[in-house]
Amino acid sequence: MPDLSGKAAIVTGCASGIGAATVRRLRADGADVLGTDVNAAAGKALCDETGARFAEQDVSDRARWDEVVAQALKAFGSLDILVNNAGMVSGASIGDVADDVWDRVLAVNLTGTMAGCRAAIPAMASGKNSGGAIINIASTTAIAPSPVDVGYSASKGAVRVLSKSIATWCAQQKNGIRCNTVIPGATETGILHAAEEAMPGIMAGFAAISPMNRMADPAETAAAIAFLASDECPFMTGAEMLVDGGAMAIHPGF
Ligand SMILES: NC(=O)c1ccc[n+]([C@@H]2O[C@H](COP(=O)([O-])OP(=O)(O)OC[C@H]3O[C@@H](n4cnc5c(N)ncnc54)[C@H](O)[C@@H]3O)[C@@H](O)[C@H]2O)c1
Repeated sequence: MPDLSGKAAIVTGCASGIGAATVRRLRADGADVLGTDVNAAAGKALCDETGARFAEQDVSDRARWDEVVAQALKAFGSLDILVNNAGMVSGASIGDVADDVWDRVLAVNLTGTMAGCRAAIPAMASGKNSGGAIINIASTTAIAPSPVDVGYSASKGAVRVLSKSIATWCAQQKNGIRCNTVIPGATETGILHAAEEAMPGIMAGFAAISPMNRMADPAETAAAIAFLASDECPFMTGAEMLVDGGAMAIHPGF
C-alpha cells in the first residue's frame, strides 16, 4: 500500500461513490483528508466516520475554492494531494441539450476541476512539503463518448487535456507538482444507479462492455488514485490511468 503519512489531501465529491472510497483509502494510507461535497449531510457523515475533515462546497463556485484550500492549509499545515472527483451527468444529447444544462455540467465537471487546480497549485508549491500530486477524474466517455450525454462526454474529454496542460506547466515551473488523470469505466456508484432509473438495464449493459463482465468497485478506482497520489511514481505526470476492466482495450466486435 502507498504510504501517504504526513501528506494532506482534498477530495471533492466525498459523500458517495468514488469520492467516498477515496477518502477511506487515503485515510487508510495515512493521509490527512479534507473531504468536500454539496451534499453536506452525507459528506460530513463519511468524513466523521473516517476521521477526515469536511467542508461544504460546490466545486463550480470559484471563489469558494480559495476558502477550501485555506481551510486545508490551516488544518494540516500543507496541501499535498488534490483529487478533483466531484462530477455529474446531464442526460442530454445534442438533439435536446438546453443552455442551462450544458452550462451546469461544464461548470461542475470542467470549470470546477480547473478552479480546484488553480487554487491548489500555489498552496502545494508553498506548503511545508513543497510539491504535490493532482488527480483529476475523467471517464471512458472521454475516449468513447456517450451519444445521450453530450455535455458529460465533452466535459470529461476536456478534463483529459486540461490535466496534461497543467502537468506540463507545473513541470516547466519545476514546482514539484504532478498532475495525472484517472479514467474510470463503469463503476457501481450513485451516478450509475441514477442512470439505471432513467434507462433500466443500462448497468447490465455497462458491465457487459468490460471483458471482465462486471463493473468496478469504487475501492478499485480509489487504489489507482492513491498510487498516483503517492511518492511511488515520481516520473508520472500528464499520464492517464484507465480503471475500466479492459473495456477500452477490446475491439467492440469481440
Ligand atoms: N460511476 C461511474 O461509472 C463513473 C465512470 C466514469 C467516471 N466517473 C466519475 O467519477 C466521479 C465520481 O462519480 P461517482 O460515480 O462516484 O458518482 P456519485 O454520484 O456516487 O458521486 C458524485 C459526488 O459528487 C458530488 N457532487 C456533484 N456535484 C457536485 C458539485 N457541484 N460540487 C461538489 N460536489 C458535487 C455528489 O454530491 C456526489 O457525492 C465523477 O467525476 C464521475 O463523472 C464515474
